[in-house]
Amino acid sequence: MKRIIKDRLPAELQKVLQDVNADVKDMGYRAYLVGGVVRDVLLGNRIEDLDIVVEGDAVEAARIIGGKYGSAVKVHNRFKTATATIGQRWKADFITAREEIYAAPGALPDIRPSSLYNDLFRRDFTINTLAVSLDDYTLIDYFRGLEDIKDRKLRVLHDKSFIDDPTRIFRCLRFETQLRFEIETKTKSLLVEAIDAGFPLLLSIDRLSNEFERLFAANEFGRIFLRMHELGILEQLFDTEYSIDNVCELLKNAPVRGCERKTYIALTLFDSIDSKLLGLILHKYKKYYEQLSCLRRKRQDIWRNHGSEKLDFSELYELFKSVDMAVIKFLMTVEDEAFQKCAKEYCEKVVRFPMHISGEDLKALGFEPGPDLGEMLERAKKLILKNRIEGKDDQIEYLRSMVKGSGEQWDRA
Ligand code: CTP
Repeated sequence: MKRIIKDRLPAELQKVLQDVNADVKDMGYRAYLVGGVVRDVLLGNRIEDLDIVVEGDAVEAARIIGGKYGSAVKVHNRFKTATATIGQRWKADFITAREEIYAAPGALPDIRPSSLYNDLFRRDFTINTLAVSLDDYTLIDYFRGLEDIKDRKLRVLHDKSFIDDPTRIFRCLRFETQLRFEIETKTKSLLVEAIDAGFPLLLSIDRLSNEFERLFAANEFGRIFLRMHELGILEQLFDTEYSIDNVCELLKNAPVRGCERKTYIALTLFDSIDSKLLGLILHKYKKYYEQLSCLRRKRQDIWRNHGSEKLDFSELYELFKSVDMAVIKFLMTVEDEAFQKCAKEYCEKVVRFPMHISGEDLKALGFEPGPDLGEMLERAKKLILKNRIEGKDDQIEYLRSMVKGSGEQWDRA
C-alpha cells in the first residue's frame, strides 16, 4: 500500500512532502496527509488541495514551511490552522490535530488540540478519515475507511454527524454524485431525519453560500439538484413552486467549468425559483441577474418599437455592452430564436469588430479633453459600428467628416 500511495503522488509533490516532513520533524512534531487527498489518491482521482494534520503547532509549521516557499500564510486562529502554497502549486491547509465540541447544531465548533486519532474521529464520513504518515507513507485507517472506499459506501462516523454540522448534508449529496458512491443504509436514515427535522435551515447564509459554491463546481450539479429536490431540501429552503424537469433540463447545458459555469447555474436557479433566501445565498450572483432582467426589459422595448427587424451593429452594442459574457451565454440557451440570433451576432461580429479609435484620436480631431470626452467616444464608436467602417484611417476620416457635418448624426448616435 505504501508503494501504491507514493507512486500515485506526482514526483514534484513527493519531493515537497519529503521537505515538509523534515521540517516538521525538526520542530519535534509529526505530520500526515489526511482527508480528501488520501481518498482521492486511493480512488485514482486528480489531487487538488492538500490537508496536512500536524501533531504539534500547525500554525508555526505553516509559517516556517510556507516562508521557505515564499508563500503568504493565512492563519485561522480560531481553529489553529493555516493555509500556504507549497512547492509549485499546492495549496496546503496545515491543521493542528484537534477535537471539536459542538455547542449548538449548525454553529462552528469549539476546539482543543488533541491526537491524530481524535482529529480523524471528529470527521464526517469514514472515507475522509484516512491518513498517510509523511515519514514513510504508512496508511492509517482507524475507522474502516479503506473498506468503504473499496465498497464505494458513504458512512458517517457518528449518529449526530449531520446534526452537529448540517453542511455535511450537502457534502453527502455532493460525494454521492461526484464519486458515484452509495449512501449506506443507516447513514441514509440519519440524513433523512436531519433534513426532515429542518437542520439545513440552521446554517448561516455564509455557510449555505459556501456549500452552494462547492455544489456548483461539482461536475453534475443537475443530479445533485434533483437529489436535493427528492429529499425535500429545496422545498424546505425555498418554499416555492418550480418545475424540476425544466430546471434539470437547463442545467444540462451549463458550461463545463469556470466562472461562466457558476453564473449559468445561479441564473438558472434565479430564473426558476422566486425566493428571498435564494437571493441571499446567491448574493454574489445577483448583479448578473439584474443585468439579465435589464437586458430583457430593453429587448422588449426594442421589439415593441422595431418589431423583430434585424438590429444593426450599434444597436446590438447598445443592447449588450454592459452585460457580462456569462449572462449572454445563458441567454443564448434559454431565450427564443430571434434573441439567440442577436446574442450570437453580438458575440461573433460586434465584439470582434476592429475598433481603432481612442480618446486621443478625438482630441486630435478637436474635441475638448474632459468628462464629456468618454461620452463622445461612445457615440463615435456607435457611428462607426452602425456604418461598419473598418480600418484605422477610414475610421478617423469618417469621424473627421462627421465633425465637419451638421452634428445631427452625433446627436442621434
Ligand atoms: N470535514 C468534515 N466536516 C465538514 C467539512 C470537512 O468532517 N463539514 C473534514 C473531512 O474529513 C474532509 C476534510 O475535513 O475530508 C477536509 O474538508 P474539505 O477540504 O472541505 O473537503 P474534502 O474532503 O477535501 O473534499 P473536497 O475538497 O473534494 O470537497
